[in-house]
Amino acid sequence: MTTLVLGIETSCDETAAAVVRDGREILSNVVFSQTKLHERWRGVVPEVASRSHTTRILPTIEEALTTAGASPQELAGVAVSHRPGMIGCLLVGLSAAKALSWRFRVPLVGVDHVLAHVHAGYMSVPELALPGVALIASGGHTALYAVTGPLRCERIGSTRDDAAGEALDKGAALLGLPYPGGPAIQEAAKHGDPKRLALPRTMLAKDSLDFSFSGMKTALLYALRGNALQRPMPELTEQDVADYAASYQQAIVDVLVEKIVLAVRGVGARSISIGGGVARNALLRERLKERRELASCQVVFPPLDLCSDNGAMIAGLGACMLAQCETSDLGLEAFATTRPHPRTLAR
Ligand code: KG4
Ligand code: ZN
Repeated sequence: MTTLVLGIETSCDETAAAVVRDGREILSNVVFSQTKLHERWRGVVPEVASRSHTTRILPTIEEALTTAGASPQELAGVAVSHRPGMIGCLLVGLSAAKALSWRFRVPLVGVDHVLAHVHAGYMSVPELALPGVALIASGGHTALYAVTGPLRCERIGSTRDDAAGEALDKGAALLGLPYPGGPAIQEAAKHGDPKRLALPRTMLAKDSLDFSFSGMKTALLYALRGNALQRPMPELTEQDVADYAASYQQAIVDVLVEKIVLAVRGVGARSISIGGGVARNALLRERLKERRELASCQVVFPPLDLCSDNGAMIAGLGACMLAQCETSDLGLEAFATTRPHPRTLAR
């Protein structure tokens, strides 16, 4: 018997819904991105985001069901990201999921958004070699996980300040590049010299698996303006922007790769997977493939549309939870933070 699960995602600025068969086969994956709404603010404005979700959520769900050729009655479950994220945004997806669950008597499954990013590695390669290490790097999160099974992972490091994507977004703003900064920096860096600026690689304590990116953007700011912060920003040529973008991207990627190598050693990992919007980065993917210490590891790069926020990863993890009877009742709440303790989904 096949199992169809609808996944709903509204934790940040993507209104997304997808239908997944048997936890893996993606029948539809509809994403409405609000980037245009937020670009003038250079970041996601929570109230603007939640209002946009309210107008987009029903058409997005409808399109996901229609594209998949599925009716709500056929669903085995409705999975929804209910943490972590912006509360107003999460509540829109959660309310829609509860309404569907109640109206069609379909089980409701509350999914942790970041763990769903981890799960996207499994969806791309179900025969993932274990134990594995997963890096999740996006605009809101940057963390490393030790993965021991489809529903089993433990956070082993996370950022102490900015997320990697946030650092890219802020760095892009300093360079006058558009929002979101990650793709803009990647594009500008194509013709740049990554050695032009010597930026720090903040590694924290010797064996620490935590990250710190806030100093990186301050270093870029000082590099641009010198120590006299009152001075106006200098005029940058196209080549300056390309060089600074390449140097900045290189510094962030270096830190991500070093921490992955450290985590692989610590965990004795046999695989690496990456997720979150920053996992779309071409330099990061290239460096991971080249790195000698990782040569014996299976390196999993989920397809680009499974890296950024999407409903398919929510449906995929939801299907696994459903199989373990990890369902929720209609009292399911939204939380801004990820589940604090235990840091694993395993029982
Ligand atoms: O996972 P995501 O779509 O949304 C959340 O933040 O949850 O990630 C968005 C982040 C943004 O900070 C964006 O600049 C970054 O991912 N990003 C990239 C690339 N594409 C998106 N960063 C580096 N290289 C990219 N190609
Ligand atoms: Zn995300």
